[in-house]
Amino acid sequence: MRVLFVTSEAYPLAKSGGLADVSRALPVAMRQSGIDVRLVLPGYNQAVTRLTNPKIEARVPVCLGEDGAVIVSGQLPDCDVPVWLVHAPRLYARPGGLYQDRQSRDWNDNPRRFSYFGRVAAAIGAGQLLPWKADIVHANDWHAGLVPFYLAMSGRYRPSTLFTIHNIAFQGNFDREHLAQTGVPDSFFHPEGVEFYGQFSFLKAALRYSDRITTVSPRYRQEVLTQAFGCGFEGLLSHRQKDFSGILNGIENDVWNPHTDRLLPRNFSVRDISGKKACKADLQKRLGLAVCRDVPLLGFSSRLTHQKMADVLVEAIPDILAEGTQLAIIGDGDAMLTGALKRLQLRYPGQLAYFHYDEELAHRLQAGADILLAPARFEPCGLTQLYALRYGTVPVVRKTGGLADTVTDAADTDETRGAGTGFIFDEATKPAFLAAIKRALLTFREPIAWRRLQLAGMSQDFGWEVSARKYIALYRTLSGLTGPEDVGYDAAEIDEPWQCEIRSAQGWA
Ligand code: ADP
Ligand code: GLC
Repeated sequence: MRVLFVTSEAYPLAKSGGLADVSRALPVAMRQSGIDVRLVLPGYNQAVTRLTNPKIEARVPVCLGEDGAVIVSGQLPDCDVPVWLVHAPRLYARPGGLYQDRQSRDWNDNPRRFSYFGRVAAAIGAGQLLPWKADIVHANDWHAGLVPFYLAMSGRYRPSTLFTIHNIAFQGNFDREHLAQTGVPDSFFHPEGVEFYGQFSFLKAALRYSDRITTVSPRYRQEVLTQAFGCGFEGLLSHRQKDFSGILNGIENDVWNPHTDRLLPRNFSVRDISGKKACKADLQKRLGLAVCRDVPLLGFSSRLTHQKMADVLVEAIPDILAEGTQLAIIGDGDAMLTGALKRLQLRYPGQLAYFHYDEELAHRLQAGADILLAPARFEPCGLTQLYALRYGTVPVVRKTGGLADTVTDAADTDETRGAGTGFIFDEATKPAFLAAIKRALLTFREPIAWRRLQLAGMSQDFGWEVSARKYIALYRTLSGLTGPEDVGYDAAEIDEPWQCEIRSAQGWA
């Protein structure tokens, strides 16, 4: 089976969060199961530089008015996953972030950047650009949201499409005037098409036109069917419920493994956890914290955003430190919060450390901390709590999405629920968060109970094998599908004149 995995990030070519980790680890696991999966990404500068064995594979014909783009082929570093980069320097090769400039403002040509990316990805999937054609095109998050649309419109013998929601809060909504640059005819700007509350929405296009939809944990799947979590898409998703499933993310065992992790000063494992002490001392030293074995060291490694309750965390810092703890925070995000952290750091020298996100530091923090704080107002899956469990760092999480699916509260250690692995709180408030931290600290002071918690977490298997099998099973049910009637169209509709209009406008008539 041939699968084209369309994503705007993949570690280590481009990363802003968990999507990058999943876009590497899942294809790696699928290839181990014999699936011919290949990645397509925008050709950001850093991606072109980091690609293994880069080579110009094909020129892209003029498409959506864009000329001079090429497809660069290669592999993800340190694994055998083939990658195609859509190298259109005017769109992707620029200083700044993947989606934003250096001042954290969204690039104003994002609709253009990601419609072009989606159009080229769809053409690769359909076998129009390279001597390879996908059976399944698996598109991820709004950046790839137009791919199912382009393919649904491309004719009867198209690949089937699967769309994965990694975070429904990111929707790619733009003013109607941008539609013209995307090749989506204006006649689709209506509630049954790509219109979403007066705007044109990449995510709406994905949820409307893909054959199947998944999201990254079973609980988040249930949550987004409700008004509280669906961000306006609960109605459409409820309508498509039978095509919509939740498959839990995994972690890449070779990258996040305390036994072999080359970024750590000392390795350790569930059989011999003693090396974790050296990791803690090293982390304290590196971050300028007092080097002390008995002080509980709490860590937070995440985007500093409203989703992650980073505002509540910052507000809770004096209370957390008053418990005689140390706190190490790494992450970027909201400028108000990063400013507040820098000021607080001066008030609590040796006790509070704040650093920008850095991949090596993220590994060292997971290894050296005693407790990982992973609060969130919503969390589709969350990977940091999984890394923490693997590294013997006990997570404190909010009962939402994938956090609730992957952590068992230490108080729930009866036979039905198995051993506890962390501490869970319900309300997204400071008192609830602090109460869970205090429960964790009480247990931390009981070495035997603490060790039991650590080992229970470390013994869990969050590798990709089980979930990769679920995706493969889903691909198999999809590979027999044919035309757009599978997403509820009248077959006659596909021969309408607008379809030819789209194809010729896009240069592949
Ligand atoms: P999310 O994708 O919502 O940020 P996850 O927990 O799924 O949350 O994934 C977070 C991943 O991104 C982890 O690998 C974490 O180490 C990393 N990470 C956290 N903050 C940043 C950042 N500012 N830049 C890049 N990666 C980050
Ligand atoms: C998103 C979500 C996060 C998830 C990640 C990978 O960024 O916020 O919960 O783990 O995608 O699927």
